[in-house]
Amino acid sequence: MEIASIEEEEQSLRVSFSDGQVASFPYLWLRDHSNSDEHWDRTTSQHISTANDIFYNAVPEKICCEDGERIKVYWKDSHVPSTYLTQFLVKAMNEKDRPVTTPKRCLWQVADLESTSDFKFRHEDIFTEEQFANILKSLVEYGFVLLRDCPPDIGTIETLSKRFSYARQTIFGGIWEFSASNDRDDSAYTDLALGAHTDSTYSHDAPGLQMLLCCEYEAIGGASTMVDGFKIAQEIKRTQPDLYALLEQAPISGSYVGDGVSLCSERTVLRNDRHGMLEQVSFNHYDRLPLGLGQHDLYGVYEALAYFEALAEKEQYQWKYTLKPGEMIIFDNWRVLHGREAFKGKRKLAGCYINREDFESTLRLNNPND
Ligand SMILES: [Fe+2]
Repeated sequence: MEIASIEEEEQSLRVSFSDGQVASFPYLWLRDHSNSDEHWDRTTSQHISTANDIFYNAVPEKICCEDGERIKVYWKDSHVPSTYLTQFLVKAMNEKDRPVTTPKRCLWQVADLESTSDFKFRHEDIFTEEQFANILKSLVEYGFVLLRDCPPDIGTIETLSKRFSYARQTIFGGIWEFSASNDRDDSAYTDLALGAHTDSTYSHDAPGLQMLLCCEYEAIGGASTMVDGFKIAQEIKRTQPDLYALLEQAPISGSYVGDGVSLCSERTVLRNDRHGMLEQVSFNHYDRLPLGLGQHDLYGVYEALAYFEALAEKEQYQWKYTLKPGEMIIFDNWRVLHGREAFKGKRKLAGCYINREDFESTLRLNNPND
């Protein structure tokens, strides 16, 4: 596509493209996106311009279009022009009201996983570029992967966490081991069944990924469960839209009190991004604080929580697998709920969390959707 013509308006530049599309680009926006060396540091990929520079100096002296391929803006306060390529303007125009990228998620229930092994990998896969990209792709599609043949010791977590970025520090440490020891004030450190939940509802920024490696298993029971929280949300939206709306709107508090800390945070069970697309599921009835009397539609919110929980505990949505030593699950803690069945015997897992922004950074740098 080419630029057919430009027209200077009072506060913006009107651009007509060869396919008939027309768009206005405010001078403020053009100045903010200036790639000139006076405004943008190419080495650090950071702004040089301050908000004041942009707001008071977004005044063009001269604007010209070259060969239909680019627009050059000469500003009143500078002799260095800012250049805007046609494809850059077209991309900005098309992305104005939409997310830049939409994750290619495959929302699943158990039956959908029976015909695919796309979420199953081997330890060595994480160290080759191509297979690591496939692991990331599956993490986006299914929200979790199973990794086999890992060395069954805590050092594996340290090594593998570095492929994603680094282990997040928590009250449990950076990389942790747990068994039915009761040495923490948390239900994970018992042999009891754990219902499907997401971790760290008491954190303002719940971890994006969790890694869990089985180091020892001489037990009966203890199968791990994975539930696609986005699938549960989709089902609630289809069958009970009023309850879905409450899960989008009602703030729910999570807390962790013990081990020398008192942590608390609050967000909705279903949290949307600014485009109204579901971005995060947070559900943990262990850590949930009782609702306050001021909660709008108290009855409805309890009904919505109960409905979410009932679906998340249904067999058709729970993928169950007993991890053996050397097997690991890596899952998206903003999407997939996890749990486990009760067990008797010895079962030791090691794990860590990865921050959301670090997981997203790894996705961007490895282009899993391309
Ligand atoms: Fe958990």
